[in-house]
Amino acid sequence: MSHALRIGIAGLGTVGASLVALLQQRKNELAVTCGRPIEIVAVSARNRNRDRGVDLSALDWYENPVELAEKAEIDVFVELMGGATGSADESVRAALSRGIHVVTANKALLARCGVELATMAEEKGALLNYEAAVAGGIPVIKALRESLTGNNVRRVYGIMNGTCNYILTRMEKEGLSFADCLKEAQRLGYAEADPAFDIEGNDTAHKLAILTTLAFGTRIAPDDIYLEGITNISIEDIRAAADLGYRIKLLGVAQVTETGIEQRVHPTMVPRDSVIAQVDGVTNAVAIESDILGELLMVGPGAGGNATASAVLGDIADIAKSRPGAQTVPVLGRPAATLEPYRRAQIQSHEGGYFIRLTVEDRAGVFAGIATHMAANGISLESIVQRPQSGREASSQTIILVTHATREDALRSAVAAISADGYLVGNAQVIRIERTKAD
Ligand code: HSE
Repeated sequence: MSHALRIGIAGLGTVGASLVALLQQRKNELAVTCGRPIEIVAVSARNRNRDRGVDLSALDWYENPVELAEKAEIDVFVELMGGATGSADESVRAALSRGIHVVTANKALLARCGVELATMAEEKGALLNYEAAVAGGIPVIKALRESLTGNNVRRVYGIMNGTCNYILTRMEKEGLSFADCLKEAQRLGYAEADPAFDIEGNDTAHKLAILTTLAFGTRIAPDDIYLEGITNISIEDIRAAADLGYRIKLLGVAQVTETGIEQRVHPTMVPRDSVIAQVDGVTNAVAIESDILGELLMVGPGAGGNATASAVLGDIADIAKSRPGAQTVPVLGRPAATLEPYRRAQIQSHEGGYFIRLTVEDRAGVFAGIATHMAANGISLESIVQRPQSGREASSQTIILVTHATREDALRSAVAAISADGYLVGNAQVIRIERTKAD
């Protein structure tokens, strides 16, 4: 059997502690599968005294993760600290510059600096694996980076934030408030250190930026993503969606259009009967539509210690199985220097169906006014539902419109004209509808 693969782990939070436990418990099986033992030799974390439920006594402890990356006698540096800057960034660069392989779950870092890090890895002959960065335990990086080579991908979309999906599911099924559901997600270890990254959609955006590069061979463009989180979604929207045969999910979508690539993250209505609509709780799902294979849909655990640690473990095992000098998979699916510039399609040119929920004063001519603005902007309506409000708001009505496919700029122009008429109570709620199968 070859010599042991020595690893150093920086970050011993939920995922790091799960990884250490798995590597210790499955030591013997992994040695057989990989053809050599995998041995943790060094670790680094903020608090040395915290009980993590694993034995760290035989390991070298580094106060500073960058020092671990620079000095420890290791073959693989595992970065599980998170964050696009600071220690995570510095330590990954330090490891790569020594030619040490890196495994990371850090989507923010990859979204910001992925091309630069891939270039460093390629120059140094190091591997940079990041399966855990997108959709937790689902092997979507491997699918796009390796298995679908030769396919032209047209669209990739999915539920990529367990916290948001957990919140939306609990709100729908149990009628709980947004705040209570978020607290529960944090308690279960799904949410980011700052949960705003989850609920405002930034976490999904980072993941989408990585998938876009792998899917379309373009440079990573995290700042060219249209972004809307779920904080504005109310129980009323969820109920209205259900009445119309839809469910609301936070989707990340990247697709090729005539004007460029659309990258968008927003609450989305998906048909209740679609497979993706059934994906509940912390589960993630990623769909990839490509010309040779057709539609591939992968569903699985998207957040939490073991789900993420499973992907990290797979990445480490891939390195353990690799042999020096053997052909390796390019970090971003193709050599970094060959990535094409990213050409952004603006959200205004997005075409699709829309759900619009309007609370309006209950008086003559309102309905006609709304219909006139829709028609003036060339928008064809699929359905219109009007409901009286009860109790305190009895003087207002809720009107729900579902449009046929239309352009976003036409929709925005119609909503602006409706708002200018003065009969709206509060703001219009607009949610995009996503078709879930290639036509
Ligand atoms: N906060 C993330 C989520 C963790 O909720 O999906 C996995 O990236």
